Amino acid sequence: SSLHDFLVAVPKVENHLHVEGTLEPAMLFAFAARNHVELPKEPEWANVESLKARYSKFTCLDDFLRYIYLGASVLVKAADFEELAWAYFVKAASMRVRHVEVSFDPQMHTVRGVSYDVIVEGLMAAKRRAVKQLGMTIEYIACIHRHLPLADSTALVDVILERRHLTDGTICGVGLVSSEKPFPPVMFADLFKRVAPTGTKLTAHVGEEVGPEAVREALQCLNVSRVDHGLTAAQDPKLLEELARSRTLLTLCPWSNVALGILPELSQSPVRRFLDAGVRFSINSDDPAYDGAYLQDVYCRVQDTFNLTLEEWDWIVRGGIEGSWVGEERMKELL
Ligand code: ADE
Ligand code: ZN
Repeated sequence: SSLHDFLVAVPKVENHLHVEGTLEPAMLFAFAARNHVELPKEPEWANVESLKARYSKFTCLDDFLRYIYLGASVLVKAADFEELAWAYFVKAASMRVRHVEVSFDPQMHTVRGVSYDVIVEGLMAAKRRAVKQLGMTIEYIACIHRHLPLADSTALVDVILERRHLTDGTICGVGLVSSEKPFPPVMFADLFKRVAPTGTKLTAHVGEEVGPEAVREALQCLNVSRVDHGLTAAQDPKLLEELARSRTLLTLCPWSNVALGILPELSQSPVRRFLDAGVRFSINSDDPAYDGAYLQDVYCRVQDTFNLTLEEWDWIVRGGIEGSWVGEERMKELL
């Protein structure tokens, strides 16, 4: 469409991107070899092509999560985390992404014996390079895993607070990720209350596979200022009104929803409903190496499906910037 050139040229922000979700199969196999990590024996793990073919057939969130956890097992050293994040930043810069809010899942690695400090060392090294060499800004969001025993998440919060990473600029926000179904937000209310006094930003993955009640619960019990996905909020007109009034950012990942089998096709994404309701939302990639689409592709696929106007794209891109977690000065530069 005529807007294609605009969508390539427009400076972008990405509010919802998991660094572990940028692990391309080629890098996965290279890291496994150099770190002597054994991968599963199933035929889908034979090579890059067979693994990509399996990624194209995810049936639900948990099916996808199994693969991202297995993939992450090749990340062992600080240098692995640095190389992974750096490769994404280079790709992001080539798509004119000016600012990224990068989620990372410490427990995906600490459960395998990789220390929290090793992860952060690698990620911060990549951030310093990207800021200096690519002129991007980057903020990290530490995400709590919902499916692990609460004691494990408590131990993570203990370390983050002990390191003072929520107040020294290392980590800008705390999120909640992984299996949504049997783990309602209220289970994490006390943990979120422990980190809130630092002034850290709060978000949670909700309304991806569970209905609008999960979005309401995250807003009420966790006091999040942002909602990751929030797809099912579209089913609740009153909730849409409240989200519009409070200008809460939903970080939509329309292509991820299709790739994970949550939506049958992109046309089923409630992009129009959110626009009509005046809800602030941004378009994001989520786990591009697993979903098969980086931010530029996601923008273009959304445009091919919905044929949005320039004004509608302005609302979306602006929403991501105004809802992003940067200081006033940087926000002015991005707008
Ligand atoms: N971790 C990475 N991607 C995720 C998603 N889409 N939902 C929940 N947890 C995730
Ligand atoms: Zn996500």
